[in-house]
Amino acid sequence: MNLSEKDSQYLWHPYTQHKTATPPIAIAKGKDALLWDENGKEYIDAIASWWVNPFGHSNQFIADAIYKQLTTLEHVLFGGFTHSPAIEVAEKLMEILPNNQQKIFFSDNGSTSVEVAIKVALQYFYNKGEKRTTIIAFENAFHGDTFAAMAASGISFYTQAFQGMFIDVVRIPVPVKGEETASYEALKNVISTYNCAGFIFEPLVQGAAGMVMYEAEALDVLLQICKENNILTIADEVMTGFGKTGKNFACDYIKGQPDMMCLSKALTGGTIPMAITTFTQDLFDAFYDDDINKALFHGHTFTANPTGCAAALASMQLLQSAEIQESIVRVNQRHLAFQQHIKNHARVKTTRVLGTIFALEIKIESEESYYGSMRTKLYNFFIEKGVILRPVGNIVYILPPYIITDAQLEKVYAIVEEALEIV
Ligand SMILES: Cc1ncc(COP(=O)(O)O)c(C=O)c1O
Repeated sequence: MNLSEKDSQYLWHPYTQHKTATPPIAIAKGKDALLWDENGKEYIDAIASWWVNPFGHSNQFIADAIYKQLTTLEHVLFGGFTHSPAIEVAEKLMEILPNNQQKIFFSDNGSTSVEVAIKVALQYFYNKGEKRTTIIAFENAFHGDTFAAMAASGISFYTQAFQGMFIDVVRIPVPVKGEETASYEALKNVISTYNCAGFIFEPLVQGAAGMVMYEAEALDVLLQICKENNILTIADEVMTGFGKTGKNFACDYIKGQPDMMCLSKALTGGTIPMAITTFTQDLFDAFYDDDINKALFHGHTFTANPTGCAAALASMQLLQSAEIQESIVRVNQRHLAFQQHIKNHARVKTTRVLGTIFALEIKIESEESYYGSMRTKLYNFFIEKGVILRPVGNIVYILPPYIITDAQLEKVYAIVEEALEIV
């Protein structure tokens, strides 16, 4: 029995209908942008394994930092204790975050970072004795699979079984080109209708929706409206953070600053699960009181795990290196050149690029479902050709590790172009 066959005996995979899905591919090894399966077949990881791995697989620099930490202090509880790796992560983050972010709270994954942000938004008003219980979110948002994160998410595939069981969320349209005014008006409208506590958004790029992009100016208008109405703003940078958009954070493109930020995925370079929610001093102060009930009663066993912190520190050091910064620019330039080449193709509806993110929408005659037949056909085609891409409906996106070589990128583009002929 090979690994793929053994897998089916006990394992339950994410986002998978096991009755109809093809068996999973057993990956035996990874190096840089490449992965090899148990039969030795090579794949280019063109989506950095769900956007976590900007510096490549089996990165020696991060591995060494993890090993050193594992053999010094692998873990200690964070309630009542602290340690140097956590403090260093905080200090390092303060150098690169928007300067209104003053406090950081650790958790384990993107969803929990969102969970923490939403709970803080709701408890902030509770602590102040104000009744505000509604969260504003974008249509087609994705913020994760835990309950508050799911409530804020608008993609029905992920949430439809749980409708009616969520905290109160109202949705506004994304201010994509031509829809800006509708989005601003909808925001003003929900603020005047509901008792809103916070607005959560994926800044500039909605990843799981298919890399839907909107302008920084539009986000600034929405943030300003929130500020005028004392609505807390939460930038979910779980996908966009740490260089993906060409800057450290998507929020670096805007003039305003959010009250909270959610970070995960590339935080540890795709090595150890870890997340951080960041806050303004004002938010922290609303929980700072003689009354214990005003504290944030939220925590996870592995909060601020020192090994994860060591991985985060090594990753942030890599991110700031000249080599990685040059790679981010290089990947962006390659994407722009491919965009020029492909945008007038008869089968291409639109293309979009921001930083290291490229997306292409294929022209279709009827609505294509998120996990529909076109998506399956494309996915299987890419896998057969040795490229890992996970299209969303009729949208193909590329979000590679920054260290991907030019030759590997060219191969990915060529296969995407070839795929246009099979749909
Ligand atoms: C913007 C955004 N927020 C939150 C999440 C959830 O992160 P996780 O899968 O680590 O829980 C994701 C995952 O893709 C995401 O893209």
